[in-house]
Amino acid sequence: MENLEINYLTNIMEDKKLSQKLRYLIGLLVVIPLVIVLLLGLLVAEMLGLRVSIDKNVLATKTIEIKEPLTAAIWQAPAENTLPQGKQGELIKYGKALISNTSEYLGTQGSVAKISNGMNCQNCHLEGGTKPFGNNYSAVASTYPKFRQRSSSIETIPKRVNDCFERSLNGKVLDTASREMEAIVAYINWLGTGIKKGEKPKGAGLLELAYMDRAAEPAKGKIIYEQKCQSCHRTDGQGMASTDGKSYQYPPLWGKNSYNNGAGLFRLSRFAGYVKANMPLGASYNSPLLTDEEAWDIAAYVNSMPRPDVRKTVMKNDWKNIAGKPIDHPFAPFADDFSEEQHKFGNFKPIVAARKK
Ligand code: HEC
Ligand code: HEC
Repeated sequence: MENLEINYLTNIMEDKKLSQKLRYLIGLLVVIPLVIVLLLGLLVAEMLGLRVSIDKNVLATKTIEIKEPLTAAIWQAPAENTLPQGKQGELIKYGKALISNTSEYLGTQGSVAKISNGMNCQNCHLEGGTKPFGNNYSAVASTYPKFRQRSSSIETIPKRVNDCFERSLNGKVLDTASREMEAIVAYINWLGTGIKKGEKPKGAGLLELAYMDRAAEPAKGKIIYEQKCQSCHRTDGQGMASTDGKSYQYPPLWGKNSYNNGAGLFRLSRFAGYVKANMPLGASYNSPLLTDEEAWDIAAYVNSMPRPDVRKTVMKNDWKNIAGKPIDHPFAPFADDFSEEQHKFGNFKPIVAARKK
């Protein structure tokens, strides 16, 4: 009897030890993942929430030392007072004048030559080519000469400038040996002061918008155009001439005085990126006035309107390698089976996916 009882008791005691061990084990299994989740949470909070709140504090208190790296991130043009003295300084200033008031010197009634359509470089390269994401020239000095697929050649800065004369300004090339070309190049090089060879500063050129999940629609774009663009660029898209009749107060968006179909803006992504960060007048990359969809749809509307056709002239030697065409190049032939329509207006995502294969 007694023996049995002792046996029974030790069994119970051993069961208790076992269940204690089990509980301990289960406890560990619960606690370890919890700790991991907690640590990950802290890490994520540190990366997102905490950083943001620190930055906000910095802005609120306006402490200079920590604010500096924030603004230094986006490119700024060199200050006017850093212009070199003497002849070189004069040349750079003349270059700036040519960019800002191109039509005065080189437009339909230009005082130097009549080689372009009355628009100014600055109409598209805003604030003399210095505005962040305003199609600025910050990365030109550092990245040219460079190979470009369009011409299948290594392009110098004068060649690239002349591309815009022939396409964006629907005009003729500027003599590369002229003082005007020398001045434009000097100005563009001066803007690139301090940027390392091969580097593109933040805010360079144009904003890159994400592709939509659908094709851009001219009909939708027309409605937004009427609401947000027409007051300046007019119902007929011809803009408004300035009082002297030599240039534009509001430049044209289509028609015979506009950029031609070989120009950068005739690519949907370039147009959408340009207007998103700059139009209607007063918009900027950090205070845009259009949604991405609006920008894409307006681009489709404007680029479906008539404009000078240079396919048989200026463009005839373009794209010797058709596989090098950008996704939104609007003219066949292509190295893939997507239609010209789809390359012009989208949907671009399937084309991107096919190229990745
Ligand atoms: C109708 C609009 C328009 C006008 C006017 C225009 N351009 Fe352009 N320009 C563009 C676009 C669009 C690009 C391509 C930007 C891109 O693809 O990121 C470009 C590109 C350039 C580039 C190369 C920029 C780079 O970072 O690779 C240079 C240089 C240039 N233009 C100079 C000029 C000059 C000089 C004039 C005046 C003679 C001029 N452009 C007039 C629209 C214009
Ligand atoms: C308040 C007047 C105003 C409104 C509204 C406006 N723009 Fe502009 N736009 C301008 C001016 C001025 C320029 C030239 C800027 C410069 O030279 O500094 C310009 C330039 C442009 C250019 C480049 C030059 C060209 O003619 O090709 C495009 C493209 C453009 N605007 C598209 C638009 C679109 C799209 C809208 C509507 C979303 C719009 N703009 C609304 C005044 C306006």
